Amino acid sequence: MLKDKTVVLGVTGGIAAYKALELTSMLKKAGTDVKVIMTRAATEFVAPLSFQSLSQNPVAVDMFEEPKAWEIRHISLAKAADVLAVVPATANFIGKAANGIADDMLTTTVMASKAPLLIAPAMNTAMLENPATRENIDKLKTRGAEFVMPAEGRLACGDTGRGKLADIELIFWNIARLALKSKADLSGKKVLVTAGATREALDPVRFLTNHSSGKMGFAVARAAMLRGADVTLIAGAHTCPEVPGVNTINVSSALGMREAVMGAAESADIIITAAAVSDYRPAKVSESKIKKGEGGMSLELVRNPDILKELGEKYSGSKTIIGFAMETEEIIKNAADKCAEKRADFIVANSLTAEGAGFGGDTNVISIVKGDGTARDYPMMSKFEAANIILTEAAKL
Ligand code: PMT
Repeated sequence: MLKDKTVVLGVTGGIAAYKALELTSMLKKAGTDVKVIMTRAATEFVAPLSFQSLSQNPVAVDMFEEPKAWEIRHISLAKAADVLAVVPATANFIGKAANGIADDMLTTTVMASKAPLLIAPAMNTAMLENPATRENIDKLKTRGAEFVMPAEGRLACGDTGRGKLADIELIFWNIARLALKSKADLSGKKVLVTAGATREALDPVRFLTNHSSGKMGFAVARAAMLRGADVTLIAGAHTCPEVPGVNTINVSSALGMREAVMGAAESADIIITAAAVSDYRPAKVSESKIKKGEGGMSLELVRNPDILKELGEKYSGSKTIIGFAMETEEIIKNAADKCAEKRADFIVANSLTAEGAGFGGDTNVISIVKGDGTARDYPMMSKFEAANIILTEAAKL
């Protein structure tokens, strides 16, 4: 997902420094070139060799070590970075960065870099709440730095309170967002997302469903949350881990999804329906397990409500409404017809037959289609990248 991206990861001297090893590993797995800079104090907690092994790159610590290639190291690192992340960041580092002090490899690189800066502090609660630290954080924020603020928990000093390094996965996804050049532009917005497959019961044992894994909708929910939105995710059947920071409501059938969506839609600004909703359900749900007979069996099906259409009828023009369409032929035409019929702002069309698209996988190939038939095609990309494109288009509306 982050192939061709370079993340310069600064590690400062706190007990949470060991958690940056897991982050290095996650970034490497996502295809990132990770270049680690450690402060001297950080090397007291974790050996540079550990970061070197996981990142498969030399680790920079000393400003004045003999250069291995002719380059001014802090300048070359500063230029190489797509994102500069400091994890964990001590009060000392934050103080220096806020006040233009550049007295080691990490702070000089931060000063010399124009890359987006992400800081994940970890420290004792009193240090975090100290007016000096708070002012320094505010100063850095006004200059464009982003923070993933610490969580509450038991701290290394034995105290319990705020100061524990934020969840590594949350830090990873924020780095991914910045590497993909998405801003936290949805703050104050309420985003409602649907994901996954509905299940239409035949009896207590069996149901009709489809192949949706929920990955596309969960990626939209995660990306919206990382961009600052207040996100509600209505999830049918899925295979995804819960997204921290997203209010997830699990449902089963199309009727259940409709009820949850209509309940949450009133307060939403943006609604994105990525769920694969069954158009039909069995006319009767047997209370006991249906026994097999001699011959074949016919099922009577009745229409389910079209949730997206109902949303379009109620909220078109007052909320941003985005649908999805999984098509097998005449993709753009069918998606444009759906967009017009359901009064959506646009439809994200994906094909069942294109390689790397559709159900189950981590990638998708999308086209953004409007009701007038205009369309923009995108190449294969991760579902998280596709989610960010969808949100950028939604934010323009
Ligand atoms: O979950 P993944 O494995 O990651 O796969 C992602 C996906 C392929 C499911 C997703 O990208 C996608 O295309 N979702 C919509 C699939 C679909 O069933 O489309 P549709 O053409 O049937 O429906 C069009 C739109 O109307 C969709 O936004 C759908 O949520 C909505 N709809 C459909 C039927 C219905 N009764 N109510 C609805 O609201």
